[in-house]
Amino acid sequence: MKDYKWNQVFKPLLEKYKPKTFCEIGCHEGLTLKSLTPLSKELGYKINYTGYDAFELAERPTFEYPKNPITGEMEHNGKESASYEKIKSRCDKYVKNDLLESYDLIKGWTHDVLKGPLYFDMVYIDGGHSYSTVKWDYEQVKDSKIIIFDDTYENKFPGVAKFINELRDSGVKVKETVIKDANGKVIMQCAVIVNEQEQQ
Ligand SMILES: C[S@@+](CC[C@H](N)C(=O)[O-])C[C@H]1O[C@@H](n2cnc3c(N)ncnc32)[C@H](O)[C@@H]1O
Repeated sequence: MKDYKWNQVFKPLLEKYKPKTFCEIGCHEGLTLKSLTPLSKELGYKINYTGYDAFELAERPTFEYPKNPITGEMEHNGKESASYEKIKSRCDKYVKNDLLESYDLIKGWTHDVLKGPLYFDMVYIDGGHSYSTVKWDYEQVKDSKIIIFDDTYENKFPGVAKFINELRDSGVKVKETVIKDANGKVIMQCAVIVNEQEQQ
């Protein structure tokens, strides 16, 4: 994970809330876990991780892809297809090295395999970036304690930005972090929801 995203968004949330259950929607090959596990160890606990991804089902000839076969929308991912085996061996290594408590990797399109209501201490929504998918993903996990949305900038990810605006308009408290480069170009924008009322 890029340093600025880690230092400004993830690290402070982990230090404050110490989430034990962590769900990553769009886990790709586990780079988020690579950042999370040493810090959780330093904080004195191990994470139970759940990762969702279409993995090899998601073909990406150009940035707009993959095309979601359920909604017909383009997911705008900007990454190569992820290998299920690669993240699995990473998770096995982390469990063996006492960095991760447990893991569950779920392969498929989220409209098929992510069905709530599901509760996690922290959720990172970074799978399909189309409006329909981000809305679907959020609705399945919306009672979770902390929800982080990646890539909420309008110009590159209009579907995500539109959904975040709708959440705001409906009264959900969303905090956005925007980082710009020296020329004023946005290089990171993500949104966080903290549900103060925890599920029992
Ligand atoms: C931007 S990448 C995730 C990067 C990852 N979070 C990280 O930090 O390394 C998006 C991932 O979402 C997956 N994806 C896209 N649309 C999806 C969908 N509708 N259902 C499940 N996975 C999806 C892609 O296969 C891809 O691996």
